[in-house]
Formats: sequence, C-alpha cells, structure tokens
Amino acid sequence: MSNCIGKYLIHSGHKIDGELTVQSAKNSFLPILAACLISDGEVVLHKVPNIIDVDYMTKIVENLGVKIVKYNDDLLVDSRHANTYEISSILTKEIRSSIFLLGAVLARFRQVKISYPGGCDIGNRPIDLHIKGLKALNVKVTEKHGYIICDGENMKPNTIHLDFPSVGATENLMMVATKINGITKIVNPAKEPEIVDLQNFLNASGCKISGAGTSVIYIEGVDKTNGCEYTPIPDRIATGTYIIATAMTGGKLLLKNTYPEHIESLISKLKLAGCDVSIKDNEIFTKANGRMKSIQNIDTQPYPGFPTDLQSQVMSLQTISDGVSIICENLFENRFKNAAELNKMGADIVIRDRMAIIKGVNKLYGADVQAHDLRGGAALVLAGLVAEGVTTVSGIHHIYRGYENFENNLTSLGLDIKKIEENTTF
Ligand code: EPZ
Repeated sequence: MSNCIGKYLIHSGHKIDGELTVQSAKNSFLPILAACLISDGEVVLHKVPNIIDVDYMTKIVENLGVKIVKYNDDLLVDSRHANTYEISSILTKEIRSSIFLLGAVLARFRQVKISYPGGCDIGNRPIDLHIKGLKALNVKVTEKHGYIICDGENMKPNTIHLDFPSVGATENLMMVATKINGITKIVNPAKEPEIVDLQNFLNASGCKISGAGTSVIYIEGVDKTNGCEYTPIPDRIATGTYIIATAMTGGKLLLKNTYPEHIESLISKLKLAGCDVSIKDNEIFTKANGRMKSIQNIDTQPYPGFPTDLQSQVMSLQTISDGVSIICENLFENRFKNAAELNKMGADIVIRDRMAIIKGVNKLYGADVQAHDLRGGAALVLAGLVAEGVTTVSGIHHIYRGYENFENNLTSLGLDIKKIEENTTF
C-alpha cells in the first residue's frame, strides 16, 4: 500500500489509442469478499482487482481468523476457522466497504461488533437504513462509544421496505437473511449490477436468493452453505472512466471484459454529444470526433439512472464541451469538490447547492490540483490529459483505492502520466 504515496505528473497533447481489459468491479469484489464469511467451504475468487480497498478488506477479514491466500489473479478464502465477531476499528475507519462485514459477520456468528465505517469524503454516509432493516429482522442493535453491537440470536424473517434503495443496506440485509430460517423480502432494494453479482455469488455458495436487480428480493434462509469458485463482474465505473478519457483526448479505445448494458446511461449521453460508441458482445469501441457538444442535463440517480460514481468524470468532460451543462448530484451532498480544482485549470463551473452549471471553455490550463476522493481524483487526471501544459494531481492514494494500474494503463494507451514524489518541485 505504500506505493500509492506521491502525485501524478501529466503532460497533455496525446490522444488515447489502443485497447484495455477492464478490471473486476471494486463494488462487487468488496461485498463478495465479506460474504465469504457465509461460505462453509473454500472459496476461489478470480480476477482479483489490484486496488488498495481490496488490501484493506483482506486485512480486516484475516483479523477474523479467515485464511486468505493470493495466487496470481486468484484469491483463496477459507472462513471455516473464523474465530471472532469483533471487527478491528483501525482498518474499518479506512474504508466504507467495511460496513458490509456487519451483515456477513452477523449471518455467520449471529453477533457482531463493528465501528462506524470510513470512506470517501463525499457526504455524511449514514447507516440508518442498515440499522432499521436489522431491527425489522429482530436484531438487537446498540450503538455506543462509536461501535455498533448487534445481537442476532433471535433473528426472524420479515418484509423490509427500504425508504431509499441503498446499495450497502441492500447488501447487508441480503447477507444477514441468508441464515434466517423462512423467507425474508426486501422491497425497494438497490438494483445495481453489483447487487445481482452478490446474489449470484451467495447462490453459488448454496444460498437461496432471487429477485436481485428487480424491486423485490426474496431470501430463503439455509442452514448449510458450501465453498465455490466465482468471477466478479467487470467494473462499470472504470469502464466509463476510460470511455470519457477517450472522448476528452480525441482518440480511440477498444475495451474488453465489459458489460455494456451496465453503463447504458453514459453511452446514450455520449452518443448524443457526438462520440462514436459501438458494442460487440462484451467489447466497447469508442472513437471521439473532435469537440463534444455539451450534455444538457445530468441527474445522478440510483441504478439504472446515471451513476453518481461517474459524475466527477463527466463534469471534467463538460468543462471542454461546446455549450452549457447542468449536473444535479442527488445522492451525495459533498460530491462537487472537484469543481474548485477544475476552475483552477480554467474551467467555468458555478455550484448552487446540489447543482453544478458548467460553461464549456475552449481549453483548460495545467495546474497543481488536489484529489479529494476516488472518482474525483480520476476526473482530475482526465482534465490534466487535455489541459495545455503540465498538471500535477496530489492525493493519488484516493485513486489507488479503486483503479487498478491507472497510470500504467493510461501510459500503455499512449498518454504521458508519471508518478513522482509528493515534494518534487519544478
Ligand atoms: C455504494 O456506497 C458504493 N460503494 C458507492 O461507490 C456508490 O457511490 C453508492 O453505493 C451509490 O451507488 C460501495 O459499493 C463500496 P448507498 P453506499 O447506501 O452503499 C443514503 C465509489 O466511488 N443512505 O447506496 O454507501 C446515502 O447518504 C463509491 O466506488 C442513507 O441515507 O451507498 C446516500 O445519499 C463512492 N442511509 C444514498 O443513500 C443509509 O443507511 C446512497 O447511499 C444508507 C445510505
């Protein structure tokens, strides 16, 4: 993890040209790694993404007595000797995904003690929907000294109505319910592809879940589960990030190992804005045709709406598109931090509460900018790839949390980006 200290040095003037195989989905792999605690056998996970959040989650799960071995691109996970339900707070504060352990550990031990999760500084990140759902399953929940302590000895099946289709709450409640005898229903769940992926992994482990991706999920409790082999879905946000990089730099890119339907909301908007995007099986070919037209309105919504995780990247694209664009960020109240950094580069962005108004400019200028979160950091790199002159992006450890080999991938596609020491001056 130490190799993520430093900043990026970016020289513009190059177009993306080449092909890339997309990594496995961070937001699939992390809940699935937690869900291995529910498997009563050895699990082999293929195509492990080489990202910091997986390193953190691996350490957290190993601290529970789970045996994990990395072998090439595979992760061998054996939870049969898991021996504690108390989750170390040192690591849980680092990543939001540690909250998925709440459901997995509760399913395994019927007890769990976990501190509040950490994660990106994109908003308050409450877990009230998780807690409300657990209480509906007759879990006794106490919150004290920054810990959540759950007693699930008398858990009962129930129908849970989520006030908001929260991804994490849906995943936690799915996992808990796998070990509650009877049928639990989750109404108004999140429909993200990563939810379907978690269902498919849990079913491969012997659980009985149906309806993921629709408006009701059914979970029938089981007593025994088994080990399995599983390959998570490709990362739709990484896919979208590279497509937007192509639209911005004016090049062409063939992406392999993709699920095009998972980013239909982005592809349809880019086509309207003048980008060529063609699909063949699990490949996406993108070709830019000069300056893009502005995308008038972008409203981030739960899946299948426009993903909040691509909002920062599409904002970078709008800064150099032709016209005015309005972005509404409806999920996270603090996800416009990039605007100030982009304005340092000559962008014209005005923020009004949840709305960003972006007037396209002819060019951006290189500057020293700061990443504040994972997707915002990647978006600043995209801006640096097209800004006249030299750009440095600090805080790149955010980017390493979710993008595998980011600078090496961009370099292999013909771009000029290097990692240098944080205190290097020019
Ligand atoms: C997951 O976060 C993803 N993270 C996020 O990706 C993604 O942005 C988000 O889903 C939405 O798609 C992982 O999967 C590890 P939510 P999560 O619960 O589960 C409110 C990235 O860049 N809410 O669906 O935390 C919350 O405040 C990351 O890869 C409650 O009010 O998202 C937010 O407004 C960033 N109460 C909205 O729901 C709750 O109990 C969406 O949150 C839970 C959530």
